[in-house]
Amino acid sequence: MLHQIWAALLYLYGIVFNSIFQCPEHRQLTTLGMDRKEFPEPHLGKWYFIAGAAPTKEELANFDLVDNIVFNMSAGSTPMQLQLRATVRLKNGYCKPRKWTYHLTEGSTDLRTEGRPDMMTKLFSSSCPDGIILKETGQGYQRFLFYNRLPYPSEKCVEEFQSLTSCLDFKAFLLTPRKQEACELTSN
Ligand SMILES: *[C@@H]1O[C@H](CO)[C@@H](O)[C@H](O)[C@H]1NC(C)=O
Repeated sequence: MLHQIWAALLYLYGIVFNSIFQCPEHRQLTTLGMDRKEFPEPHLGKWYFIAGAAPTKEELANFDLVDNIVFNMSAGSTPMQLQLRATVRLKNGYCKPRKWTYHLTEGSTDLRTEGRPDMMTKLFSSSCPDGIILKETGQGYQRFLFYNRLPYPSEKCVEEFQSLTSCLDFKAFLLTPRKQEACELTSN
């Protein structure tokens, strides 16, 4: 009996210990403030896709052929919309333009993608200067994506992103190669 109580106590202690001490970066995953000064204006303009993390490799499979992606966020046709354009440089050298319309949610930084009712995007601040973390959730997948204003942020930034997400049980990790020149962003 005493043995079982000890086992239970040790087990609980293990849970508490792990959540406090093994995941110190946990605290860094803070949602962006809704202050108008903080959102969305400072997030407009160019972003480079650096890395992704997900519970399984399959949830990152759509980036397998990607060398690099450059994004450009701009104001949408209404104040509650954002226009996101991207050009994907595929490993085979081809450029693939993409665009999405995001709808802002009143009172939060959550974004809804037009035409994708299953999809939800949450924005988090990053401990890395000029970095931002997105969490995308859709039908059957969820993933964290790390973006930076610079195409090659420091290794420490990437390591922090990886240890934070791995700590949250998003153990599959993908770092974009970024070996080729970024494709040109077009406005059409
Ligand atoms: C990129 O974003 C900026 C800031 O939102 C905007 O002024 C510019 O027109 C955008 N460029 C393209 C090519 O979409």
